[in-house]
Amino acid sequence: MTVKSMAPVPVSDEDVPLVTLSDPQLSLDELVLTDQSITALREILNEQRHASRLAAYGLRPRSKLLLAGPSGTGKTRTAEALAYALGIPLLKVRLSAVVSSYLGQTARHLERILAYSESGRWVVSFDEIDMFAGEREDSDHGEMRRVSTVLLQQLEEYKADNLVIATTNHGTSLDAAMWRRFDEVLTYRHPTQAQISALLEIKLRRFPYKVNKEQVSRSLSGMSHAEIEAVCLDVMRKSVLAGAKSIRTEDIVESAATRKKRYKEAGKSQG
Ligand SMILES: Nc1ncnc2c1ncn2[C@@H]1O[C@H](COP(=O)(O)OP(=O)(O)OP(=O)(O)O)[C@@H](O)[C@H]1O
Ligand SMILES: [Mg+2]
Repeated sequence: MTVKSMAPVPVSDEDVPLVTLSDPQLSLDELVLTDQSITALREILNEQRHASRLAAYGLRPRSKLLLAGPSGTGKTRTAEALAYALGIPLLKVRLSAVVSSYLGQTARHLERILAYSESGRWVVSFDEIDMFAGEREDSDHGEMRRVSTVLLQQLEEYKADNLVIATTNHGTSLDAAMWRRFDEVLTYRHPTQAQISALLEIKLRRFPYKVNKEQVSRSLSGMSHAEIEAVCLDVMRKSVLAGAKSIRTEDIVESAATRKKRYKEAGKSQG
């Protein structure tokens, strides 16, 4: 890892690191997203790269981004790809270390992180903010709302032009106050038939395959990108061990059915 940083990373009152730094190597081209998301992400990258040109006209790049959508659709990976595209490290907030049972302590932790992040140029990610923001039914509801208010206030006052990315599985249940604080909200979904085809080309590209694209895409419909990736890995492993020359339609259809069944039994699939 080539991450360098001047100051030691901020720690919680219990001395637990509040962030992790990494240097992701993932191109945006590796992700299959909606045209709408891709366009927005490319525009945002362009604004980030030309922040000083915007500043000359009193404008700022869009810098607070919320990615909302079901599990396994590329939200975490998008934050990594944006850091890579900008050539800067990813500073990932460890929410589990940030949130304490004392609101004042949580606020102090957030303050430390944001102050630290202003000392450098990174993509700052608040991954899975649901623990802050979602509509919760448990008795912590009131407390969580107060915590999320603190986060929103601090984000509002955040003046650095660093790209801040928050992700959530429950976009629709986030309250309006949360949405308003972001410059852009991108919705992630399970892939369409065309997107499944594009995903297969990426995930199977190291392997010869000759399949009926329509049939294969149909067999994978309703699955998340991550679940489809898992099917591709199953099929590639099997083919290698069977000494097969190429992947066939029925290999994928069969593996898709097995995975779907398993996810259904585990109650995991959102499809
Ligand atoms: N849109 C996508 N295009 C290509 N691959 C994807 C995409 N989405 C997910 N994947 C694959 O699935 C894996 C999981 O993706 P990721 O962690 O970004 O999902 P997520 O949306 O953050 O899910 P969660 O909400 O559970 O955190 C990744 O390693 C990636 O290889
Ligand atoms: Mg994620």
